[in-house]
Amino acid sequence: MVTSSAPGKVYLFGEHAVVYGEPAVPCAIERRARVTAEKRDAGLVVHAEDLQLDGFTVEYIDEGTDHPDVDAENSLLEAAMGYVNEAVKQVREAADAPQAGFEIWIESDIPLGAGLGSSAAVACAAIDAGCRELGVALAPEEIADRAYRVEAAVQDGEASRADTFCSAMGGAVRVEGDDCSRVEGVGNLPFVIGYDGGAGDTGELVAGVRALRAEYEFAADTVEAIGDVVREGESVLGTEDTETLGELMDFNHGLLAALGVSSRSLDTMVWAARDAGAIGAKLTGAGGGGCIVALDDTDAALTALRYTPGCDEAFRATLDTEGVRAE
Ligand code: PMV
Repeated sequence: MVTSSAPGKVYLFGEHAVVYGEPAVPCAIERRARVTAEKRDAGLVVHAEDLQLDGFTVEYIDEGTDHPDVDAENSLLEAAMGYVNEAVKQVREAADAPQAGFEIWIESDIPLGAGLGSSAAVACAAIDAGCRELGVALAPEEIADRAYRVEAAVQDGEASRADTFCSAMGGAVRVEGDDCSRVEGVGNLPFVIGYDGGAGDTGELVAGVRALRAEYEFAADTVEAIGDVVREGESVLGTEDTETLGELMDFNHGLLAALGVSSRSLDTMVWAARDAGAIGAKLTGAGGGGCIVALDDTDAALTALRYTPGCDEAFRATLDTEGVRAE
């Protein structure tokens, strides 16, 4: 039996636009998903007691069906199982063990589907744990690639490499199409996260942006403008100029809101953080609900968010320089 963990992330810049080839800069944070894997003769048993959902246990014997038979209404639960199922397929392929069965335990302190990369973290940790349990060690780059294929399969192809590369490698990363690299020398940014307790449907939100982009040239221009914000942001990343970084985060949020992926609660949290003096604030991830990320080196934004109606939880997050790892 082996355990692996992988970090969640926030997007400093570039979500959604990254799907269309613009650059994005996600940063891994010290909140992790842990996956334990144990070999069994056949099939897959999954225990996930702490996905910030009611605990669930699923048992099924894979008989060539695409999805596990989950007796649950909850679409998040369904999606979580989809990621585990696809991750196990990747393990079987990577280890050349098509019949391998597993018992899997998932634990996570990353809210599910809330823009903090929970699915990428579960996919990376599951691939690493499953492979190591079969005696195969994969390089983090290969885990990133295989976890990307997991996300692409579950999200009907609507996925970039950003979340999975960031979770596998740790630190701040830059992703532009298939080009993925670590960004060194970023230092510790004073992230504050506000969480509205909800979640957005990534596939639906990405499809919404795709439709807008196809309908209006100015929506396509908005996506490109996000790319410009990211390029500008990269030029100040790692310097003392956090003011410009914050200003660009604010700009990035406005462009995402124009593309229809913010929500009342995300906007409310963004403004609560800004009014409290945060250097910058934006939604993180797919949007629709979930989390915002602000930069603030005082306690003001954190305190303000804790008193903001609609903000369920607020916490600080530090950059996690480590990616997927054995526990
Ligand atoms: O909400 P998350 O953490 O799944 O992030 C989604 C980010 C998108 O850019 C909207 C999609 C993607 O795969 O890059």
